[in-house]
Amino acid sequence: MPDPSHVLVTGGAGYIGAHTAKALSEAGYIPVTFDNLSSGFEEAVRWGPLVRGDIRDADALFQTLADYRIQAVIHFAGLIEVGRSSIRPDLFYDVNVGGTASLLAAMRRAGASRLVFSSSAAVYGQSPEPTLREDAPKNPASPYGDTKLAGERMIAAHCKAFGLQAIALRYFNAAGADPSGLIGEAHFPETHLIPLAIAAALGVGKPLTVFGQDFPTPDGTCLRDYIHVNDLASAHVKALEAPVGESGFEAMNVGTGQGRSVMQVLEAVGEAVGRPAPHSIGGRRDGDPAALVADPAKAGERLGWSAQHSSLRNIVETAASWARRPLYGHDAHQADAALEQLA
Ligand code: UFG
Repeated sequence: MPDPSHVLVTGGAGYIGAHTAKALSEAGYIPVTFDNLSSGFEEAVRWGPLVRGDIRDADALFQTLADYRIQAVIHFAGLIEVGRSSIRPDLFYDVNVGGTASLLAAMRRAGASRLVFSSSAAVYGQSPEPTLREDAPKNPASPYGDTKLAGERMIAAHCKAFGLQAIALRYFNAAGADPSGLIGEAHFPETHLIPLAIAAALGVGKPLTVFGQDFPTPDGTCLRDYIHVNDLASAHVKALEAPVGESGFEAMNVGTGQGRSVMQVLEAVGEAVGRPAPHSIGGRRDGDPAALVADPAKAGERLGWSAQHSSLRNIVETAASWARRPLYGHDAHQADAALEQLA
């Protein structure tokens, strides 16, 4: 008999995975994390068992699904660094697309029929629209975005052919940390605006370079839709339980619908830390669209979900409080070794 209480969380030792595992536990589920710890942390797995394994290992996935009699899966495991995806597309397609294929094979074999997939606003690429609906054109600007789109399409085809039910959540800019202080953001290398700006303000990181101030936006810097990681986590729990339409597959944006500029983020970081974030204005970064803001109406209608914790102030305050006292993090050697192991 399948056990509805256990949910497989691939990549559950990572940033969004760990916050979702906590939300699952609070909702009465037992998250079973499947993670090879190549970029995640054992210390982040606190709300259920950890099974160490590679997402490309369909037999290990099948064994885990069978051992815990799991029916539902939330699939985060994958490589996330957009810039690196252009340098090592081989790895990104292998882990992100190949890993999703191996998970689908294991789920079919085990009779697990429910999936929530970690997708990204990166599936859209550059868009002329100020806010993005799910049916906006898909022109990924990086191999990373392409692997997420390929994952969605592969899952949709499995839903049609084999009766799987799945929801893909397209995240905008995940940020912030759980207020407990137990889990937070830890990437190597860190490339995201908010942790870099906080490190600069705290004096533990380099001054921030603002990538361009000549965009067609109110203050000339890029607009992004920053969403608190705990709002993302609650969207996953709701997606696990929501009815799925006739095709068995739905893709939904998870964002706030509000664009914030790089300068607004720097100002909020200065207030949260109590010191301004030192910065200079540099040139544009390759592939950065001027604005990427969600239209989150579909997730509101279909999941009964809306962002509750995503004021810029709450995002930067929780991120700053984690940055002051992180319980875990990468050192450069460990991260390099982990990436090499994947190759
Ligand atoms: N930025 C800077 N300086 C920095 C870092 C970032 O000015 O040192 C700016 C960027 O140009 C961008 C904004 O801050 O305008 C946010 O940049 P992030 O790197 O934090 O996030 P991105 O919007 O580039 O990327 C996010 C997710 C990706 C996802 C992408 C979808 O992190 O996983 O959105 O477009 F693919």
